[in-house]
Amino acid sequence: MFSRRTPAPGAENRLTRALASHGRPVLDLTATNPTTAGLTVDPAPALALLAAPGGGTYAPDPRGLASAREAVSAYYAARGVSADPARVLLTASSSEAYGWLLKLLAAPGDVVLVPAPSYPLLDALAALEGVELVRYRLPEEDRWSVHASLVAEAADRAGAAGRRVAAAVLVNPNNPTGTSVSRAELDGLSSLAARRGFALVSDEVFLDYRFEDRPGDVRVAAADEGEALVFSLGGLSKAAALPQLKLGWILANGPAALLAEALERLSWIADSYLSVGTPVQLALPGLLAWGERAAGALRTRLRSNRAVLSEALSGLPEATVAPLAAGWSAAVRLPAGEPEEEIALRLLAGEDLVVHPGYFFDFPHEAFLVVSLLPEEETFRDGAARLARALRRR
Ligand SMILES: Cc1ncc(COP(=O)(O)O)c(C=O)c1O
Repeated sequence: MFSRRTPAPGAENRLTRALASHGRPVLDLTATNPTTAGLTVDPAPALALLAAPGGGTYAPDPRGLASAREAVSAYYAARGVSADPARVLLTASSSEAYGWLLKLLAAPGDVVLVPAPSYPLLDALAALEGVELVRYRLPEEDRWSVHASLVAEAADRAGAAGRRVAAAVLVNPNNPTGTSVSRAELDGLSSLAARRGFALVSDEVFLDYRFEDRPGDVRVAAADEGEALVFSLGGLSKAAALPQLKLGWILANGPAALLAEALERLSWIADSYLSVGTPVQLALPGLLAWGERAAGALRTRLRSNRAVLSEALSGLPEATVAPLAAGWSAAVRLPAGEPEEEIALRLLAGEDLVVHPGYFFDFPHEAFLVVSLLPEEETFRDGAARLARALRRR
């Protein structure tokens, strides 16, 4: 009856099942919803913008209203990136942007190259489009950075299996490792993509949460015209900590003829959905301005929680946390031995603490735990203390 694009019900992992039957309140260090994270910046003025005049009319442009695309362009300009509004297309979220780009680039059965470790939702987004993922390794020994040669290796593997590669995804900065692509690697990747006829998709939702760029790190892959077609993704969910408003965007770039055709075809896809509401588009300039303050407050919290985590784990030399390069999460590396899932189950049973085991993010080996740095400082301090206590009991 049902398509293979959706999983059969009841396929939850052990941690989800244990959580469902836990029976006691938990301290959730996997929470990444900023609307429930006790943000100190009052959202009322941002939400009031949604009631501005004009929201009652419906005169859609499939790419998004010109005023909203200009607001995205201004957002990039403030970050030193020239982004012509004609190269911007609005979506309801970056997840939707992935869906539209996969529809644009890939036929069912085609391959998309994705990094490992990285953001777990990519599996579901690909499954929904009937597309297969082939992973390329981010080398741990180089801070989990993108290496064009490893992307080429993954493309070769897909080719050897007779599959067409439609795109390579970069998560830049990566979730949960926080590391970015360098200019040299991006140029290498762009040449590879142009030679082999695939596009690049750069998920940059954490653009405003970069703490430790290396010289030469690329912040916006679609800022400059390169050899390949490239799409940078962003959105209000992270840039303004307003995921509930459902507005994201795609910034496209590439060789002129290819770019023009891509934008035309994307507009056709967007026209079939028209999924972004008028009030949020009209409010976008004000929402992005408000978002600067929200993101600033969040950056302070992320830094502070990261320091608390280091301090809590400082007595455990076998537990290491990489410096906070970017993003909202931290990966704690532990010695191999006790399996990640067992550690996560033990933390839940003994400390009422929820963390993600590293395999959710496709870390190449055991053992990693991933924690969100978003919870309120006091909650986070309690969570970090519980984590340290349980790890000491190994
Ligand atoms: C790397 C990455 N991309 C995309 C998203 C989803 O963003 P959106 O709410 O715009 O769909 C997330 C959410 O956590 C993420 O971590």
